[in-house]
Amino acid sequence: MAGNRTFTMIKPSAMATGHAGDILAMMEKAGFRLIAMRLVHLSRHQAGIFYAEHSAKGFYEELTRFMSSGPIIAAILEKDNAVAEFRKLIGATDPAKADPGTVRSLYGKSITENAVHGSDADSTAEREGAFFFSQLDRV
Ligand code: CMP
Repeated sequence: MAGNRTFTMIKPSAMATGHAGDILAMMEKAGFRLIAMRLVHLSRHQAGIFYAEHSAKGFYEELTRFMSSGPIIAAILEKDNAVAEFRKLIGATDPAKADPGTVRSLYGKSITENAVHGSDADSTAEREGAFFFSQLDRV
């Protein structure tokens, strides 16, 4: 059975352009309830740990530099079938390929600066939420 929680981050570019409130409103209007939320400026080290699964990829350096370039909002969200429903709301990873009206289509600038992160599976949501809400200040 699909789980009812997912994890998200509003990325530095969307924070810097003043769209955090618009994006949170889209999440709430789509029926997601906020379970936990924090505003944090990640260190490069913390961003590297969060995205460790991508450490061998060519985009890892750019991604971790960007994700530590300014504050982000991290949140745990609740809704039935949360992971899949949230991925529909945010659209494809590349904003240029995201459906019109999705968060990334509206507020993403590039594949790196794609406005928001959304977990890709229930197990990832659990791990990513735990990273931000119980481990972050110890790494
Ligand atoms: P996110 O959902 O945060 O998960 C991994 C991130 O890597 C992704 O969004 C993108 O911002 C970033 N990224 C950069 N380049 C690529 C790429 N070529 N393919 C997938 N993700 C990429």
